[in-house]
Amino acid sequence: MTKRFDSIRAGIFSMPIDKNELRRVMGHFATGVTVITSLRSSGELHGLTANAFTSVSLTPPLVLVCVDKKAESYPCFEETGVFTVNILADDQEDVSRKFAVSGGNKFVDISYRIGANGAPILHGTIGYIECKVVSTYEGGDHTVYLGEVEQAETRDARPLLFFRGGYRALGD
Ligand SMILES: Cc1cc2nc3c(=O)[nH]c(=O)nc-3n(C[C@H](O)[C@H](O)[C@H](O)COP(=O)(O)O)c2cc1C
Repeated sequence: MTKRFDSIRAGIFSMPIDKNELRRVMGHFATGVTVITSLRSSGELHGLTANAFTSVSLTPPLVLVCVDKKAESYPCFEETGVFTVNILADDQEDVSRKFAVSGGNKFVDISYRIGANGAPILHGTIGYIECKVVSTYEGGDHTVYLGEVEQAETRDARPLLFFRGGYRALGD
């Protein structure tokens, strides 16, 4: 490591970015919107809106999600080690808003079925990816869960998007 890089690592040349500024900057990266569903060992169903989701590997088939340690859903991932990524369609903004509010039974008035891994599969999405947790990584105020894909399905529909703090649809 050169002296210059040591200095940068020590924070001499740059102050750590403010969290609100980081949120604003990251909001410029347009994403789809998912609801990550899971369950507690008691069988209680949980779900949270998430856009920190990405494909990692094709062989083996791996994806990752980042979950806030303060989320009510957080214990699910340790307890049962399963999750399903539900990719929202452009007419599901209300579903995204519902699952972005912490706590309570979010599945009231939501149409779903239970998948092979035990987690809910929401109806009306453009696809779902059923996973089991194979690795866990420390990620500051979040934990990164690497999931092996066990089953997945899609249908032909248009995605809900999130950009600069607002919901969007494809412009074409
Ligand atoms: C568009 C959008 C994306 C979000 N992405 C994430 C995410 O990737 N990870 C996360 O932990 N929370 C994310 N959140 C926040 C959670 O949805 C929110 O904290 C939710 O209340 C957690 O639910 P719970 O506490 O019932 O588990 C996102 C919220 C929105 C609106």
